[in-house]
Amino acid sequence: MNFDIPVLAPSILAADFSRLGEQINECLDAGSNWIHCDIMDGHFVPNISFGPGIVKSVRQIAPGAFLDVHLMIEKPDLFIENFADAGADLISVHYETCIHLHQTLQNIRFHGCMTGVVINPATPVELLKPVLPEADLVLIMSVNPGWGGQTFIQSSYKKIQELVLLRSELQAHFLIQIDGGVGPDNIQNIVRHGTDVLVAGSSIFKSDNIGHRIHDLSRKANAGKEKNV
Ligand code: DX5
Ligand code: ZN
Repeated sequence: MNFDIPVLAPSILAADFSRLGEQINECLDAGSNWIHCDIMDGHFVPNISFGPGIVKSVRQIAPGAFLDVHLMIEKPDLFIENFADAGADLISVHYETCIHLHQTLQNIRFHGCMTGVVINPATPVELLKPVLPEADLVLIMSVNPGWGGQTFIQSSYKKIQELVLLRSELQAHFLIQIDGGVGPDNIQNIVRHGTDVLVAGSSIFKSDNIGHRIHDLSRKANAGKEKNV
């Protein structure tokens, strides 16, 4: 699937699950067809969200959407096949949860999905260097994972810039994604630093009008593209 960069990726973690289908359709109608699914196990992060069953429902609601599944779980290898079968297009795993990260990324690809690798705010970008050739996407967490609605951590800007440099040094092609605390006040600056994919949960689903907010965020994200730092 081809996307115009920057891409906005609504995170359904913040959605009203009693109206999930309706709210996903509002995202699709507003032009957002990259949907971010946050999977939390209550062990790696102090919260539980949902599993492959809901991802399968999202796939049924949005057959043509790009489903980005962010695994915040211990032992992610045990569940890759389940999420691939549920309809994931991309599965991302945390550096902090994978003892054999290179192998886990190969496992994701084996199951027909694009590969993503994620780092927590306390994990340096340079640790990813050996696996970057295996990654289609690198996600820099801009909050500590576990909850929606947190404040963007300012030191993430520097990490985006480091990753942009590393990508050109390695002549790699992975997308750079930011997740946590993205909203109308900072999205332009986040793109300006080099972000390709912007996950946004609360700022979309807790707004008065999902469609209007998506249009506003997309317009601001595109404005950031014009001037890189
Ligand atoms: C945090 C999740 C995020 C979360 C972002 O653990 O990975 O995807 O949904 O939520 P907001 O946009 O509300 O910070
Ligand atoms: Zn996420």
